[in-house]
Amino acid sequence: MAVGIFDSGLGGLTVYERVAARLPDLPLCYFGDNAHTPYGVRDPEDIYSLTCQGVERLWEEGCSLVILACNTASAAALRRMQESWVPTDKRVLGVFVPLIEALTERHWGDNSPPREVAVKHVALFATPATVSSRAFQRELAFRAIGVDVEAQPCGGVVDAIEDGDEMLAEALVRSHVEALTRRMPNPEAAILGCTHYPLMEKTFQDALGPDVQVYCQASLVADSLADYLQRHPDMRGTGTKSVFLTTGNPAQVSDKATQFLRRKIEFQAA
Ligand code: DGL
Repeated sequence: MAVGIFDSGLGGLTVYERVAARLPDLPLCYFGDNAHTPYGVRDPEDIYSLTCQGVERLWEEGCSLVILACNTASAAALRRMQESWVPTDKRVLGVFVPLIEALTERHWGDNSPPREVAVKHVALFATPATVSSRAFQRELAFRAIGVDVEAQPCGGVVDAIEDGDEMLAEALVRSHVEALTRRMPNPEAAILGCTHYPLMEKTFQDALGPDVQVYCQASLVADSLADYLQRHPDMRGTGTKSVFLTTGNPAQVSDKATQFLRRKIEFQAA
């Protein structure tokens, strides 16, 4: 039994970390497409074909279920993959839905009609590709009415994080928060709609102020995955070992991952 976790690079490790803590006995296979990161500035066709290649590689590791721990891939490719590409004995799930279920105070998998919810003004921080897909607004509209979403494409933040340039990442986050709050001065909630951003959560919270509730995907995805696997135990797959795969340079990616997670992580070539 093994579950796959896919990201364009290192951001999905924020999801990996929470899933590993929540389901310690579950082998996890991580795939980082570091050779092609960032996805956030690519066009949807490109994101679709890169994501399919990565997911196929995780199937080879015996994962029947792959989590796209990447909002950009979830926004630009997931629906098309589910509609026309994923075989019937496999599943690919994204990271938007658990987040929206939490924001709209729903139980995991509750598909009842949209209704009024407490939160009315939501700030969304995501990559340019995620913002322009409007996938977040579309998924939200299935579940809630009367919510105003202001989205900020956070150009440059993923590159700065992948390069390990924390000072630049921090400066960019502050300027993106300032740009958004000029258009929506008092959001009640902020969504960190990119799996790289939890690494900058403190800066987002600090720039937004203490009254804004910041939603991070990692633990929400871990909880909803635990619930999903309980309902679908057959999706645990045949793989038995945990592995970290990258399309980038394994030694460099391992160093950065070790720095992010503050423990030794060893990637191997995908
Ligand atoms: N971490 C990813 C996301 O959640 C991808 C960022 C990127 O590659 O641009 O969107």
